[in-house]
Amino acid sequence: MVSEIKKIGVFTSGGDSPGMNAAIRSVVRTCAFLKVDCVGIYRGYEGMIEGDFKPMDARSVNNIINKGGTILKSARCEPFRTEEGRKKAYEQLRAEGIDAFVVIGGDGSFTGAMIFNQEFDFPVIGIPGTIDNDIFGTTFTLGFDTALNTVVEAIDKIRDTASSHNRLFFVEVMGRDVGHIALNAGVGAGAEEILIPEENLGLDRLLESLKRSKESGKSSSIVIVAEGDKTGKNVFELKEYVEEHLPIYDVRVSVLGHMQRGGPPSCYDRVLASRMGVKAVESLLEGKTSLMVGVQDNRLILTPINKAIKGHTKIDKELIRVSEIMTT
Ligand code: F6P
Repeated sequence: MVSEIKKIGVFTSGGDSPGMNAAIRSVVRTCAFLKVDCVGIYRGYEGMIEGDFKPMDARSVNNIINKGGTILKSARCEPFRTEEGRKKAYEQLRAEGIDAFVVIGGDGSFTGAMIFNQEFDFPVIGIPGTIDNDIFGTTFTLGFDTALNTVVEAIDKIRDTASSHNRLFFVEVMGRDVGHIALNAGVGAGAEEILIPEENLGLDRLLESLKRSKESGKSSSIVIVAEGDKTGKNVFELKEYVEEHLPIYDVRVSVLGHMQRGGPPSCYDRVLASRMGVKAVESLLEGKTSLMVGVQDNRLILTPINKAIKGHTKIDKELIRVSEIMTT
């Protein structure tokens, strides 16, 4: 069934991630290819309420596939949580002649889109863009692969100075309340210990492991700590705890922070974004709505957006076992 959609909006929402620009580019270029108008919506739901729109054609997205961040900006928007705010947004979209939109963001952004669809019967499709990789219905979210490479590169640099000074480093990484970045980057960077919220193995085990590392002849160590870790101590408190209970270590801390959200997207993220943008536009034109585009076994799939929001991504137990073996 070919729908009556003639003009599609596209926007980015929530925490930005590398690959969002590649996804914007793909949505715009697919609209151009299929002869559908496309409008960029700036600053997510905030710009939607304000009518901050800009028509976009194939040329509008030149030279952005390799750029981190999002040319459409992003924001978190409290007013959109109200019926009044959503009604204002709907009026703005209709005034602009926009018949459907593609939202590139995380579960919070998808929640807004789902409610908007329910209230106004307005077609919406989601593309998962967040470095956390915590969205049900896709093996990878846009930005996760790039963030992993950013973190591994940073840890490689920290390891240089850790080994020069025989130091133990606690490195905090993002992930809000999941340990996917910590676990994958920890294995990739050869961290001696990885602390993630999904597996709180306690401080005694950490001390034991660090003691074993020292006794086995390791002169320096790297411990990756997910920001949502559940030991009950932040990285600075972990440093103090180890200094107090294991004074053999000279301890330092490095919090990677928002650098994990930036940088040129990896090839994988660029290709995934390009694939997802095409699928999102084609799905809208086929009359589909309230779905999220995802990738599973390297095939694109569609998941009901209410499942994507409520579902949880499981930590990879096999990878946890690999990480334990690698610290031998
Ligand atoms: O969701 C992406 C993310 O980077 C999380 O990993 C992190 O906890 C959060 O956003 C930080 O949010 P903000 O950019 O608002 O400080």
